[in-house]
Amino acid sequence: MREATPDDKKYAETITQEMAESAKARGTGIAKRSPEYIQTKMDEGKAVIALTDDGTWVGFCYIEAWEHGKYVANSGLIVSPPFRKSGVAREIKRKVFELSRKKYPDAKIFGLTTGLAVMKINSDLGYEPVTYSELTTDEEFWKGCRSCVNYDILMSKERKNCLCTAMLFDPVEKAKAAPAVNGHTAHSAEDRRHRRVMAENLTLFDRWVHFKQFVLLKNWWRKENDNPEKGKSILSFLIFW
Ligand SMILES: CC(C)(COP(=O)(O)OP(=O)(O)OC[C@H]1O[C@@H](n2cnc3c(N)ncnc32)[C@H](O)[C@@H]1OP(=O)(O)O)[C@@H](O)C(=O)NCCC(=O)NCCS
Repeated sequence: MREATPDDKKYAETITQEMAESAKARGTGIAKRSPEYIQTKMDEGKAVIALTDDGTWVGFCYIEAWEHGKYVANSGLIVSPPFRKSGVAREIKRKVFELSRKKYPDAKIFGLTTGLAVMKINSDLGYEPVTYSELTTDEEFWKGCRSCVNYDILMSKERKNCLCTAMLFDPVEKAKAAPAVNGHTAHSAEDRRHRRVMAENLTLFDRWVHFKQFVLLKNWWRKENDNPEKGKSILSFLIFW
């Protein structure tokens, strides 16, 4: 696990292919990335890559900055299927989070996700669930959502809500909660309690997220399809989903 370099550009095609295939398999939306875009991130030193000793690609994630570095997103997290469920994503996210903190120490770090795994990892890194209004207003960021299958839902909600859950790490809030002592960040009792409560409630939170997604999708389909019979069959599809 290390920062990606220009020598890693040969993996860009494999990475973007896996991103697209995983999104298709999950039936969820994703902001599409080109191999060239991934390569730019490698050139800029804004990516983390995991490889085996013999050079097999294992995982990847990159950094995007918005509003002149006021906001940073750790995007495009992907782990090659044979290497999943062994802690690779957790390690990659930790590394890319450290890299983001080093490059943009004052930035708010945020992410949008539909996955429980990412919510768990983000929560352990100190992210908190927030409303979309707390994210960057940079048009370029929101343009990334255009290639997502759920873009119509996002726009119908005037960019205030969608199927993804928004999570944010605010360095100012964190510093208040955990002042540095002799250069080390001491976690306050309140911060520790908050983390414990978040961890205990993640399953509940996941159920709430699914409920929110159900309501958003149902309302969207209702608007799109005035036919009540069509609406009923979509509703039964959503219940099973
Ligand atoms: C999501 C993904 C990155 C997870 O990678 P991974 O290496 O398997 O994750 P880890 O092994 O580090 O697991 C991290 C935590 O999430 C949990 N987790 C992993 N996959 C999960 C899943 N599908 N559902 C629920 N929890 C999951 C793990 O149990 C672990 O929690 P724990 O430490 O409390 O046990 C990987 O499945 C993937 O690449 N999926 C396709 C792309 C994607 O969804 N990217 C995220 C876009 S926001």
